Amino acid sequence: SWTMGNIIEEQVAAIRKQVGSKRAICGLSGGVDSAVAAALVQKAIGDQLTCVYVDHGLMRKGESEQVEKDFVAATGVQLKVVEAEERFLDALAGVSEPEQKRKIIGREFIRVFEQAQAELVAEAGAEGEEVAFLVQGTLYPDIVESGGGTGTANIKSHHNVGGLPDDIEFELVEPLRQLFKDEVRMVGSELGLPDEIVHRQPFPGPGLGIRIVGEVTKDRLDLLRAADAIAREELTAAGLDREIWQCPVVLLADVRSVGVQGDGRTYGHPIVLRPVSSEDAMTADWTRMPYEVLARISTRITNEVADVNRVVLDVTSKPPGTIEWE
Ligand code: XMP
Repeated sequence: SWTMGNIIEEQVAAIRKQVGSKRAICGLSGGVDSAVAAALVQKAIGDQLTCVYVDHGLMRKGESEQVEKDFVAATGVQLKVVEAEERFLDALAGVSEPEQKRKIIGREFIRVFEQAQAELVAEAGAEGEEVAFLVQGTLYPDIVESGGGTGTANIKSHHNVGGLPDDIEFELVEPLRQLFKDEVRMVGSELGLPDEIVHRQPFPGPGLGIRIVGEVTKDRLDLLRAADAIAREELTAAGLDREIWQCPVVLLADVRSVGVQGDGRTYGHPIVLRPVSSEDAMTADWTRMPYEVLARISTRITNEVADVNRVVLDVTSKPPGTIEWE
């Protein structure tokens, strides 16, 4: 029968056959697909695989640690981390327009990733080995969709971490190309990956960079990270993670409103909560979630995050709104 064990065994054998004694590289994004693809390849070829994680500084609280510590602990994979926060923030300085942000983040990502690839190829070469393979977490629906050519990619320039540069000279290893998302999650669990990775909700490649309406700065990212962490904590505590497809938390950095906190007048920023229910992110509806949970999130964010004096709920479906604000 077609069990997860079978799928894993079959893929492990296929990967070993494909890669032989050469070396492979895999970009990790923090997402489910690249993590499961990497774990499968690691199981098949062990230290012939090196993973690369570009920390662009636009991740949510705890996400880089999840990759750098938990994923490595669970798989034993060799990981090269590239700390690139400063580079991304420099490139984003002064930029508010969403498409421009997306292009900059995508461009910088490819540059940094290619640089890391080149270093690994050179290091392997010095030891008389060849890096010939690039692992991708492509799923079955990705293949079908890219044939169809419709979707959000036409509306916003999408950036998937691990996106292929044009002049790629590696052969691809795509161990998930026959699988759907739920099967990928099952394979990940079977391989012993942590639940936080296996059941992670969708998160955009450009990260928090497209959840700050306005210029992206370190201070604003830290503020948004704090608010987002509170929202995620409360949603999880309320048992809503499976019911909600995802809940972008957005900082309206260019908007201020008057508030009163303690004995004083404040003039702070609003945070937007965007909980949505969806099957595939092509369409979505705003989630009718319990008022008590919204109240707790609002109280905590305004109490705990300096410079935020208002929390608002986005009650727009998709269409007409997209899930993300940018
Ligand atoms: P929108 O905002 O277009 O988002 O309704 C649809 C889904 O796609 C995610 N998203 C992205 N995912 N790279 C990604 O990998 C991106 O550039 C990107 N932009 C949006 C979004 O979180 C939602 O799940």
